[in-house]
Amino acid sequence: MLNVRDLRAHYGQVQALYGLDLALEEGSLTALLGANGAGKTTTLRAICNMVRSTGSIEFDGGSLSNRSTENIVRLGIAHVPQGRGTFTSMTVEENLHLGAIIRQDKSGVASDIEHIYAYFPVLKVRHTQQAGTLSGGEQQMLAVARALMLRPRLMLLDEPSFGLAPMIVRELFKILGKINREDKVTILVVEQNAQLALELADRAYVIETGRIVMSGRAADIASNDDVRRSYLGY
Ligand SMILES: Nc1ncnc2c1ncn2[C@@H]1O[C@H](COP(=O)(O)OP(=O)(O)O)[C@@H](O)[C@H]1O
Ligand SMILES: [Mg+2]
Repeated sequence: MLNVRDLRAHYGQVQALYGLDLALEEGSLTALLGANGAGKTTTLRAICNMVRSTGSIEFDGGSLSNRSTENIVRLGIAHVPQGRGTFTSMTVEENLHLGAIIRQDKSGVASDIEHIYAYFPVLKVRHTQQAGTLSGGEQQMLAVARALMLRPRLMLLDEPSFGLAPMIVRELFKILGKINREDKVTILVVEQNAQLALELADRAYVIETGRIVMSGRAADIASNDDVRRSYLGY
């Protein structure tokens, strides 16, 4: 579904990606793992054309390289950035409606909101509450929920576990697994928490200073002690 080849990205003089290759199969749930500063966020930004890059990025066989970020969203790629990015002064439900703002099929929006509340019952309970007053975990759930309102085919998640208590992370990851299996949303999730991400994902890539240094089935990577110690630090 997504094919990334020889991706290079720079911030001014600073090079962040050095020829990265990555492929996602439709329906898969893939983890992109790596230490702080390895280039995970930059990879997601490059896919969405939010940072200048070279190389090829194909989605469904078509190039994303010359498309605007908005255009890429319209193709069905939803990006949940690092640090959540909900509209804090708006209510939960207003945030969900905003997520659907580019959709043509307005009739499906109300039923999608109910569908999403089934995944995240706490958001239904809090639907009139300002997003900024939610707990960290609830805000992250809202960020994911808002992205789902696009009815994306591919969802890119940047460190959804960041700053959340382990119990909340497990709950969130369980829901991500359901979204992947039941709604058939292909997911690429960036994580520093390798152990939890490998439990969730079917496949994983490990990135180190802007290059992929390891890839394979998540279960194989998790059970390889050398890989875990060398690259994942647990
Ligand atoms: N806006 C920026 N300006 C300059 N350098 C940046 C910027 N954003 C990221 N970088 C650099 O690019 C590299 C990769 O960063 P990033 O993709 O954010 O890593 P990760 O998400 O894996 O922690 C790092 O060396 C970082 O310092
Ligand atoms: Mg990052």
